[in-house]
Amino acid sequence: MENEKDNLMEKITSLAKRRGFIFQGSEIYGGLAGTYDYGPLGVALRNNIKNSWWKKFVDNREDMYGVDASILMNSNVWKATGHIDNFSDPMVECKKCKKRFRTDQIESLSECVECKGELGEEKKFNMMFATQIGAVEDSSSTVYLRPETAQGMFVNFKNVMDSIHPKLPFGLAQIGKAFRNEITPRDFIFRQREFEQMEIEFFLHPNDWEKYFTYWRAEMLEWMESIGLDMNSVYELEVEGADLAHYSSRTIDFEFEFPFGRKELYGLAYRTDFDLQTHAKNSTVDLSYFDDDTKERLIPHVIEPSFGVDRTVLALLVSAYKEEIKGEEARPYLAFSPSIAPVVCAVSPLLKNKPELRDYAHKVYRMLKDEFGRVMWDDNGNIGKRYRRQDEIGTPWCIVIDFDTLGEENPEHKDTVTIRDRDTGTQERIKKDDIIDYIKEKMN
Ligand code: GAP
Repeated sequence: MENEKDNLMEKITSLAKRRGFIFQGSEIYGGLAGTYDYGPLGVALRNNIKNSWWKKFVDNREDMYGVDASILMNSNVWKATGHIDNFSDPMVECKKCKKRFRTDQIESLSECVECKGELGEEKKFNMMFATQIGAVEDSSSTVYLRPETAQGMFVNFKNVMDSIHPKLPFGLAQIGKAFRNEITPRDFIFRQREFEQMEIEFFLHPNDWEKYFTYWRAEMLEWMESIGLDMNSVYELEVEGADLAHYSSRTIDFEFEFPFGRKELYGLAYRTDFDLQTHAKNSTVDLSYFDDDTKERLIPHVIEPSFGVDRTVLALLVSAYKEEIKGEEARPYLAFSPSIAPVVCAVSPLLKNKPELRDYAHKVYRMLKDEFGRVMWDDNGNIGKRYRRQDEIGTPWCIVIDFDTLGEENPEHKDTVTIRDRDTGTQERIKKDDIIDYIKEKMN
């Protein structure tokens, strides 16, 4: 079983590289630990994830507002939130090989797992990346790459209030990069030093927090299901005691059964009024809200649904990876839902070097590209190879233009194409003018 799971990770990692989803960061220079680069299909998959998230949680709602804050923020933000003093992992360093380990991730503190050398004292290791701003390097010019997108929303709370005048409850949403100097980045894109988050800070009256905690829990689950995550692999963990972050009085971690173990996918936290109170105190700016109806002045409380883009990509790859065994051969394919698949459909001429097939196929390709955008032209290799390649990248439909389309072999079939289904491998012949409706119907 363990072997099977290792194997699955290997298959996914190798497919991701081979087919242009995910590459090691700076690969030609030997890589940079904890960083990954997304290739053409990976970018498409990420964009589909982010668009689906934004559509559901921002565009389709009447109480959500987007922000896009800077990655570099005034250091006082991180002083106020406690990140400068406390955003650290416990770490030990091997005196011999100098490798560092998170103490909560190793079994023994007596010897190094790599070289059996002696381990040093446990130290706190701050996970924020520091850099210098401006020309003069001193401590006052130190700034940090944000370790979460959340604070960009708290520090803009007043700006949004003053410009848009929303009424409680309402939310701010942001998608953006976050950076953490993880001591042991690992498990492919699961734990990286640079990653992307999709976060919501939902501001509300403190009396309503339980109602909205339940509401957001359901909303998160609904979205997970809508993008095609394997819901049998999603678990909820009520975070308790010392594991609860200092700002939270209730947190649920949504965990996913990855091949390397059950690990955090997303989090849902009730952050109380911790952040707005802290920023109000430290910035001396009034961050209270005045309710015109009840004449009450209060600091709103916050429910925070927090999602990682990269962990979504990985959980989707794990959920979608399938193999159909045919005799001695395995046909691997990614059973992405059509709304999330990097390519909706691929269009091919049966033979590459027949101009009449190519011209017709290219017209069909343009028609579908104008409609769906994510459409691929594929005339490389024979049809079998093209199907195999499209299966591996999770393209739901392959459309082939053949001699029947031209009406050369069977006049009844003039202006029809074959459309092949990725999951079943079956083909249908449909009219060229019906392709768009056919796909739209299946997508819905
Ligand atoms: N604002 C709250 C917050 O940042 P978190 O649990 O530390 O909470 C939220 O992070 C989400 O960000 C995680 O559930 C995960 O999806 C993603 N995430 C966190 N650290 C990550 C890392 N090193 N690599 C990839 N994704 C990460």
